[in-house]
Amino acid sequence: MVALKRLLPLRAVLVTGKGGVGKTTVAASLARYAAAQGKRVLCAEMVGDAETASALADALGVPRLDVEPVDVGPNLKAVLLAPTLGHQRFLRDVLPMRLLADAAMRSAAIRRFLAAAPTFPEMGVLYRLLDLVRAKQRDGSDLHEMIIVDLPATGHALALAQIPQSLLRVIPTGPIASAVKEGLALLMDPEKTGALVVTLPETLPVSEALELARGIEQHEIPLAQVFVNRVPFDPFSDEEREVVRAVLADRPPTLGGRTLERIDRARVALARLEREVKVPIATLQDVWLEGPRLAEEMASLMAVGEA
Ligand SMILES: Nc1ncnc2c1ncn2[C@@H]1O[C@H](COP(=O)(O)OP(=O)(O)OP(=O)(O)O)[C@@H](O)[C@H]1O
Ligand SMILES: [Mg+2]
Repeated sequence: MVALKRLLPLRAVLVTGKGGVGKTTVAASLARYAAAQGKRVLCAEMVGDAETASALADALGVPRLDVEPVDVGPNLKAVLLAPTLGHQRFLRDVLPMRLLADAAMRSAAIRRFLAAAPTFPEMGVLYRLLDLVRAKQRDGSDLHEMIIVDLPATGHALALAQIPQSLLRVIPTGPIASAVKEGLALLMDPEKTGALVVTLPETLPVSEALELARGIEQHEIPLAQVFVNRVPFDPFSDEEREVVRAVLADRPPTLGGRTLERIDRARVALARLEREVKVPIATLQDVWLEGPRLAEEMASLMAVGEA
């Protein structure tokens, strides 16, 4: 069962999880699914700088992405969420004149400083995300109704919430503080933001996902859903599984035996998640496709799952 419909009303979905579990693939397919449901979707990949190769571009089947949104398909745009544009906005808030801010941004030394200071990359991303959330169409409606953010690694969803808070302690008032407060209010509002923790149905990834889910909740980012990716296809009923197990028991190891073990581990892992997680759990099977066709197929499985 997939069941992701409850994410559709959110303004921002933060896709997070350990390396290689399928965050980018899930972000791309969720974006395709939501766009097909009629939402104006922006799929954003958080990157350190805009020059690195984009995994999201591959998953969406476009040649490249940039710091400004590009069209990917009907209702669907994608963008690189790099700190740079946010830093520019940020400097405009701190420096008295726009000209001065633009000049400061051209200085390599200042750019290096902003990239290196621990709080500033997240600040830049938060500022940029806020801009994208606030962007309007001519008729005043939201330009991007739903922004799906593919976060690079486990810690970042937390860093986004944690670092602005520590910054607020240092700079409690003024334009930066109010922008940061607005960003935090967005990130912490369960009607607007939800974290989607992606994991695999295996012992260690599930332990890590549970830890991440706890961390997210401690930072008061609403945990919307856990997504178990690559659940192995299980063709057997309980009795059939016992029969197959008995047949395989006194034979040397086979690929079939290993598949059965993987199915068993997945069942245990899912049961543990169901016991320990309060939010709904979506599951999606292993799909034998790659690149953009993988995300397209997963998006249609998501739509079928809602039917
Ligand atoms: N449901 C699935 N079925 C088959 N293959 C999948 C599935 N989900 C992801 N993959 C494959 O697993 C690999 C890792 O996926 P992906 O790049 O989305 O993970 P990630 O969490 O974004 O990784 P990283 O931490 O490096 O950003 C990719 O090769 C992708 O094609
Ligand atoms: Mg990725």
